[in-house]
Amino acid sequence: MKIGILGATGAVGQQMIQCLIEQDIKVDELRLMASRRSVGKEIEFKGETLKVIEATENSFEGLDVILGAAGGKSSKHFAPFIKKAGAILIDNSSAFRLDKDVPLVIPEINGEDAKKHNGIIANPNCSTIIAFMALYGINKKSKLTKMIVSTYQAVSGAGIEGITELDNQIEALLNGKEIENSIFAHQIAYNCIPAIGTFLADGYTDEEMKMQNEGRKIMHLPNLNVTCTCVRVPIIRSHSISISFATERLLTIEEVREAISSSKGVKLMDDGINNVYPMPISTSDNDIIEVGRIREDKVIGGYSLFCSGDQIRKGAASNTVAIIKCL
Ligand SMILES: NC(=O)c1ccc[n+]([C@@H]2O[C@H](COP(=O)([O-])OP(=O)(O)OC[C@H]3O[C@@H](n4cnc5c(N)ncnc54)[C@H](OP(=O)(O)O)[C@@H]3O)[C@@H](O)[C@H]2O)c1
Repeated sequence: MKIGILGATGAVGQQMIQCLIEQDIKVDELRLMASRRSVGKEIEFKGETLKVIEATENSFEGLDVILGAAGGKSSKHFAPFIKKAGAILIDNSSAFRLDKDVPLVIPEINGEDAKKHNGIIANPNCSTIIAFMALYGINKKSKLTKMIVSTYQAVSGAGIEGITELDNQIEALLNGKEIENSIFAHQIAYNCIPAIGTFLADGYTDEEMKMQNEGRKIMHLPNLNVTCTCVRVPIIRSHSISISFATERLLTIEEVREAISSSKGVKLMDDGINNVYPMPISTSDNDIIEVGRIREDKVIGGYSLFCSGDQIRKGAASNTVAIIKCL
């Protein structure tokens, strides 16, 4: 298969290169594309040194699949040229996720949907993937009806520059220098910021609404109701999510634990009494979603849990590469 990565020098793009090897995808050609800034940059792939080229409207000829990791603006701009070249775009941005003719896919949950594509397949939002990976086994036992969610999102969710900003601020603080911020709205070092994305008229942000709107589409649950608060925390990698949920039928706690422990790609990290639970430090650079702190929640009439997962891997790159296999 001839594969192109659009945004190959970014946090997600670089991880995609690694995931192609790990998931044993047969790659006959790998074309690495980024902005003009990165032209000529050298990246190793299976013992070969590949040079990054500038993505232009003519860069996609002869390729079968393009993995999009260059943001929504680039994806929207290049999508018609990718289509013209006869390639399939598997995109990580939010540009096409809610379009009717674009499947939104987590392979463990709705891999079959990928086959209904018209040239574009979308990878869901990173927190959405992690949350529904934790819940899909439960949904098989009884359908989800509502969720109350809070996310604790790592700085690398904002790309490589998010990591640089946290590192620079910590260094400035330790050396008594002025703090500078451009990626995040406030100082993120030793702080948390309770808003991610763009504010909407009703007070939610667009990032928060993805949990409900994308969740409905992936899970085929048009009436699922979700309220979500997204929080940026000073962690390098791996998002964590607190979820309280209700299902049509009240499950037993044994059913909930069994559903989680039998879900592919998910690990139960909960013995109910000791300090065994998911943490970003243990899920970083790992494709498995950890789930724990499971307890009955009498307020919502269901259960509460806490999950953690590497948003650059399962929340983006490894999910995207796994979509190739669905085809
Ligand atoms: N980071 C995450 O945890 C995460 C999770 C899920 C989804 N996503 C999504 O994945 C996408 C990439 O995110 P990221 O975190 O990897 O961002 P990033 O680290 O900032 O990397 C952005 C990449 O896009 C390239 N790029 C920017 N403008 C371009 C242009 N006009 N033409 C071609 N390439 C261009 C950059 O190339 P240069 O190096 O040359 O600038 C770089 O390779 C975004 O849509 C993001 O929302 C990210």
